[in-house]
Amino acid sequence: MNKLNIASQFDESADVVLFQGDTLDFLAQVPSEFVQLVVTSPPYNLNKEYENKLDLEDYINQQRMVISESVRVLKPTGSICWQVGNYVENGEIIPLDIILYPIFSELNLHLRNRIVWHFGHGLHATKRFSGRYEVILWFTKGENYIFNLDAVRVPQKYPDKKHFKGPNKGQLSGHPLGKNPSDVWEIPNVKSNHVEKTIHPCQFPVELIERLVLALTNEGDWVLDPFLGVGTTAIASLMHGRRAMGAEIMPQYVEVAKERLHKAEQGILRIRPMERTVYDPNGRVKSIPPKFVKIKSLTEQLDLFSSSKHAEPLKIKDDS
Ligand SMILES: C[S@@+](CC[C@H](N)C(=O)[O-])C[C@H]1O[C@@H](n2cnc3c(N)ncnc32)[C@H](O)[C@@H]1O
Repeated sequence: MNKLNIASQFDESADVVLFQGDTLDFLAQVPSEFVQLVVTSPPYNLNKEYENKLDLEDYINQQRMVISESVRVLKPTGSICWQVGNYVENGEIIPLDIILYPIFSELNLHLRNRIVWHFGHGLHATKRFSGRYEVILWFTKGENYIFNLDAVRVPQKYPDKKHFKGPNKGQLSGHPLGKNPSDVWEIPNVKSNHVEKTIHPCQFPVELIERLVLALTNEGDWVLDPFLGVGTTAIASLMHGRRAMGAEIMPQYVEVAKERLHKAEQGILRIRPMERTVYDPNGRVKSIPPKFVKIKSLTEQLDLFSSSKHAEPLKIKDDS
């Protein structure tokens, strides 16, 4: 039997609030200074199945309304994390963090990190380099904010490294709980082979949100995702004893979010664990297709030629 209390309108006594509808209608229900963390990935205005592409100015204005409401409902010690990539127009990229930053700045928020989320999979571009990162702008509302670094430390590369001089010479130099995870995060994105993949075209990996929830909130705190999708933010929050609320306009995503939450409650939701290292296929590739081998050996010959001491300078035929 499910014990999880999932409300469909704002309800302070619920474990989770999943509002189906427009995010501004939902935000209007939430009291001021109520949530500890707002974390979201808004629509990128790319004409995905869940959005109508707007003029850039209209898109920015729409984002401004959601951001200012999010700031209103944020506690003074709270954080807001806006995860974005690029808006693309006629093959030209417009990084959304650059165009949205002034909105946060006008609202007097403090930028603490511009986190680069690097991942391995995506479209193969032909007229520019393939995009393999997006960013998370982490702002705090004030100068005093929650930051639980110890909860999110990661293993050191060289845990047995020692001080080589000074009064601590010979003693271990690293922190016993691990190192600061830095502002570049290597976390696989959710593509077709990922265990968390649902019908949503661009869901968060749970581990990305777990790190933010653990670092920026305490147990029992409320986390808000104004563009909830299939509920990843709510899942990561519940997994760590927080409560969550959010709005999603597409009913089918709200249904998936509910199913995932119930599975998470029963401990049967498949999730990629935070501690798992990123899969590295090197050494596991058994055979290289003959066509690729040919290209590889040609590249090696060229490399050898260009690094050879005896290489002749390239002669260019002058036909003039
Ligand atoms: C980038 S996706 C977020 C996915 C989410 N992070 C997850 O893990 O599933 C943005 C979501 O915002 C929803 N959305 C777009 N406009 C909205 C609006 N005005 N109100 C509520 N949700 C909206 C879309 O349907 C989409 O699911």
